[in-house]
Amino acid sequence: VWEQAPERWRVYAEPDFALPADFASRFPGVAASWEEEPHVDWAAKYQASLAAFPVGRRFAVLPSPEIVNPWPERLALRLVPGAAFGTGEHFTTASCIRAFESLDPRPERVLDAGCGSGILAAAACLAGCGEVVAFDIDPEAVRVAAETAGANGISYRLFTGGPEAATGLFDCVFANILAETLVENMTALAARVAPGGVLIASGIAFEKGGMVREAAGRQSLLLEEMRTDATWWTIRWRRKAL
Ligand SMILES: C[S@@+](CC[C@H](N)C(=O)[O-])C[C@H]1O[C@@H](n2cnc3c(N)ncnc32)[C@H](O)[C@@H]1O
Repeated sequence: VWEQAPERWRVYAEPDFALPADFASRFPGVAASWEEEPHVDWAAKYQASLAAFPVGRRFAVLPSPEIVNPWPERLALRLVPGAAFGTGEHFTTASCIRAFESLDPRPERVLDAGCGSGILAAAACLAGCGEVVAFDIDPEAVRVAAETAGANGISYRLFTGGPEAATGLFDCVFANILAETLVENMTALAARVAPGGVLIASGIAFEKGGMVREAAGRQSLLLEEMRTDATWWTIRWRRKAL
């Protein structure tokens, strides 16, 4: 189902599909029309369209197993085309990577909260971070993240759950989750940031930056950097060193 515009959808179906007899009474005011399309192997077409692309200063994302890294000076980050969010093309993911790359010194312990495809955890491992932990509430995302780790020859602790299930302290906590979820979980996320460490949060719709900043402020996190593409915010805070 493809939402082409608000209140306008295109639905692809098998050739023998028929509208249910009660369509008009179930969806009053919705007009439906259909046409036959030539058969297209969408999966094959999508795979063929995948190409390497650079992310941040140091990474080359290779979105399928056959692609060779065209930039040897960049670290190859291989993804397995899958269902989880986190291809690296979205501003929120790419800006989390850039915010991470600008940390000096490189963080040793990294937590990826809401890991999706595991792209941020993989980037941290490939950059040489010593201890990486990642989790997601969606078991399918955790499965894809495990595949991403395998494809990159890395391993780290991965579990299904939410921020309340995480333990330990981290020099860098990623949380590319929606603003409401960040606010709801800010206490648990902030509790994982080591003294002197950072929280890099994204998935924050532009107009919701204020509420996330307020929530982080209540946890005594100090605002350090804000990045935006005018649709999303990626914000970095630091916990005061002891
Ligand atoms: C926007 S994706 C980010 C994926 C990846 N980290 C990235 O930066 O591209 C957000 C992920 O957070 C997960 N998520 C949402 N709420 C969560 C929660 N309360 N605890 C853990 N994961 C959560 C979703 O299942 C989804 O995989």
